[in-house]
Amino acid sequence: MKKVFLNLLQQPITNSYLINTKSSTLKKEFFYNLSMIINLSNFLVSIKKPVNPKIQYTDIYAHRASQSKTMNLSFKKIAEKLKKKFRPKLTMEIGSNDGVFLKNFHKKEIVAVEPCKNLAQITNRNGYLTYDKFWDTNLARKIIKKRGKIDLIYSANTISHIPNLKEVFKAISICLNHNGVFVFEDPYIGSVLKNNSYDQFYDEHVHVFSQLAISNLLNPHKLKIIKTEILSTHGGSIRFYVAKKDSKYKISKSVKKIYDSEINLKLNKFSTYKKFSLRVQNSKKQLMKLLKKLKKANKKVISYGATYKSATIFNYCNIDKSLINYVVDTTKNKQWKYTPGKHLLIKPPIDMIKEKIDYAFLGAWNFSKEIMAKEKKFIKNGGKFITHVPKVRIIK
Ligand code: TMP
Repeated sequence: MKKVFLNLLQQPITNSYLINTKSSTLKKEFFYNLSMIINLSNFLVSIKKPVNPKIQYTDIYAHRASQSKTMNLSFKKIAEKLKKKFRPKLTMEIGSNDGVFLKNFHKKEIVAVEPCKNLAQITNRNGYLTYDKFWDTNLARKIIKKRGKIDLIYSANTISHIPNLKEVFKAISICLNHNGVFVFEDPYIGSVLKNNSYDQFYDEHVHVFSQLAISNLLNPHKLKIIKTEILSTHGGSIRFYVAKKDSKYKISKSVKKIYDSEINLKLNKFSTYKKFSLRVQNSKKQLMKLLKKLKKANKKVISYGATYKSATIFNYCNIDKSLINYVVDTTKNKQWKYTPGKHLLIKPPIDMIKEKIDYAFLGAWNFSKEIMAKEKKFIKNGGKFITHVPKVRIIK
């Protein structure tokens, strides 16, 4: 049985930055209802009615994973770790974005899958064979025909974006070598509940995983979790190491440890999610109270990071130009466009120094350390950051 626990109202596609705010452009903007459900038979948290991926992953997809130093470093680290541990002859990445993980491999030892044509073009041009297709059983068969079975499959922040997980895991089991390993990482529902980071829910995050849900979903495909890690990336992620049930791998102690912690957190109870939903409603109230107070005091407030996450917050809380002057972001192809839904102008971060901004809401709170280290001048001039995780507050 599937039950709704949170309604985040009408939301736009988070990746669809607008090039202008003419009424003809706004008329075409796509909205859908973002309601979150828990499936009480396998404990998977998902969007009730996901958006069609063909509308989301287009040839103008804006996100570039290699924009952040933190992410460059973390992909390099995991690539080195996996190569050392599993010594794969052939690796595959699903959702390779602009090649931030691929570049740590020799071009002949890795294949990539990336449905956004503009991104696949970048990595193909750089010599990494990239299929510009959605991951499914047809593609899995095509790849093994050309390259043979795969020793290591890696995927970051992609598997949770795919509505049909049955098809995903079936395709994995088709092309994974007998002793191959599938490693994937995505936002963790345990961290969302702990941080009140309801902004992890947006159109691309069709599911937010727990170990409980993934072990239930792998079971029919004769796949097992052999190890799990909880990570700080993206404000709290979970990394699964998956192998065939009859492979040589034993199950590490981490799996039992995380199972116990999830039972302890009551991730298998509807009431846990319902209580979380009340905390989300309170977070909205607190954020609106703070922003209105700052506005009344004539403070200049902007948001830092034109993130997908902040689109959920702005559209759920109804935060527009009357409360937030504009958004800053270092990504060149987001600058001088407008945020989806609330249409806030995106500028380069230098503008918040020039215009003596008083407060910056951390839309990219998961990169707060990197941002604060970068924006010393803003802080020196008396600028302050605001966050909503785990509670709405001005960071002292
Ligand atoms: P993400 O959380 O979806 O990866 O998005 C992070 C956004 O924040 C991305 O658009 C880049 C932006 N950003 C900055 O503008 N400055 C920074 O220092 C960092 C780390 C990110």
